[in-house]
Amino acid sequence: MSWLDEQLRHELVAQETAHLRRHLRTVPHDVLDLASNDYLGLSRHPEVVEAACQAARQWGGGARASRLLGGHTPTHTALEAELADWKECEAALVFSSGYAANISVVTALAQAGDLVLCDKRNHASLVDACRLAEAKGAVVRYFGSLEKLQSLLEKSPAPTASRRLIVSDTVYSMDGDVADVPALMVLGAQFAAILILDDAHGSGTLGADGSGACKYFEVQAAGAAVPVVQIGTLSKALGSQGGFVCGSRALCEWLVNTARPFIYSTGLNPAACGAALAALRVLRREPQRVQRLKQKTQQLAHGLEELGLDAQHQPSPIVPLLLGEAERALRWSNELLERGVWCPAVRPPTVPRGASRLRITAHAELSEANIKSALSIFAQVRDAEKK
Ligand SMILES: Cc1ncc(COP(=O)(O)O)c(C=O)c1O
Repeated sequence: MSWLDEQLRHELVAQETAHLRRHLRTVPHDVLDLASNDYLGLSRHPEVVEAACQAARQWGGGARASRLLGGHTPTHTALEAELADWKECEAALVFSSGYAANISVVTALAQAGDLVLCDKRNHASLVDACRLAEAKGAVVRYFGSLEKLQSLLEKSPAPTASRRLIVSDTVYSMDGDVADVPALMVLGAQFAAILILDDAHGSGTLGADGSGACKYFEVQAAGAAVPVVQIGTLSKALGSQGGFVCGSRALCEWLVNTARPFIYSTGLNPAACGAALAALRVLRREPQRVQRLKQKTQQLAHGLEELGLDAQHQPSPIVPLLLGEAERALRWSNELLERGVWCPAVRPPTVPRGASRLRITAHAELSEANIKSALSIFAQVRDAEKK
C-alpha cells in the first residue's frame, strides 16, 4: 500500500467512525424507489427509451468532440428549440450536465470586481461556481434570507461597469421548499442585478404544466425588468442526462464563446439528447403527469405525518424526513432497504450537522399499493426504533 493509500484509508476510517462514510451500492431490482429524481417516471417511458436507441443508432454512442469542433446533430438543435419554447425564452443551450451548466453560467458572467450573491442553501454546483468566480476576482457573499440579500445589495456600490449576480436554487434540493422568485426578481430589478435561477428540481414538477418555477409563480422571465437566466437539468424529471440554460440569444452566444465547461468538454451525448427531447414532448403532451405527481407527493407526505414522523410537505416532490444525527439517518435507511424501500441517508457535509435526513422523493408512477406499502414499512422502522 502506498503512503497515499495509507493516508486515505486512515481518513476513510475516520469517516466511518463518524457515520459519514459513503458507499456505492447496486440498486436491487425489487426495491421501491423513494430517492431518485426521476419524478415523472420518464426515464423508462417507451418513447424515451426508443428515442435514445434511435439517436445512438443514427449518430453513434458519443458526441465525438466538443460542439465547437465536432458540430452537433439536428436532435441537439431540436432539443434546444423545444427547451426555449417550454421555458418561454428566446434561446437555450444544452450542456453535458447540470453541474457544467451551473459552472458555465456563473463563471462566464462574473468578472473581477463583480459582486456575486449566492444563497447559502444552493446546490454544491452553484457554490463551486461561485468559488471559481471568486478565483477570477469576483467578490462572493452568501445570503440566507431576503433581508440579508437586500442589505448586501444596499451596501454594495452602485454598478457602473461591474455586475451584480444573484444566484439561487428555485427548489432547494435537500429541503424541497421553493425560493421566493418574485421577491428575487424585485430585488434584482431594484439593484440592477442579474438573476440566475437553478430550476433543476422545479423543471417538470412546478407549475400546472411542469414548466418550472416561473410558471409556478406566474412570472415572466423573458422581458422582465431584471435579466433572468434559467438553468435546468435533463437528468431529473426529464429522465435523461445533461443540463441546459435558457435565456436570451445573446446570453447563449456568450456561453458558446466563453463558458469553459462548454468549450473544453465533449458535447451532450446524442442518446441523452434524443431521450430528453422525447421526454419533454411526452411531458408537454401529457401535463396530467405533473398533477399526478402532486397527488402522490401529498399522499406520501400526509401519510408520513400521520405516522408522527417529522416529514415536511413542500410544493416540490421532495419530502425531507429530519432524523438529526448521521447514525440515526443511516440506521433508518438501512432498515428501510432491508424491508424493500430504497432511500439512502443524507448526511453532512450535504446537510448541516445535526440535520441528517432521509430525502424522500415522490414519483408520479407510484401506485396506491406502493404508497400503502411504503408507509407500512416506515411505521415498522419507527416502531423498531422504539423497542
Ligand atoms: C439543484 C441542483 N442543481 C444542479 C444539479 C446538477 O445536475 P446534474 O446532475 O445534471 O449535473 C443538481 C443535481 O444533483 C441539483 O440538485
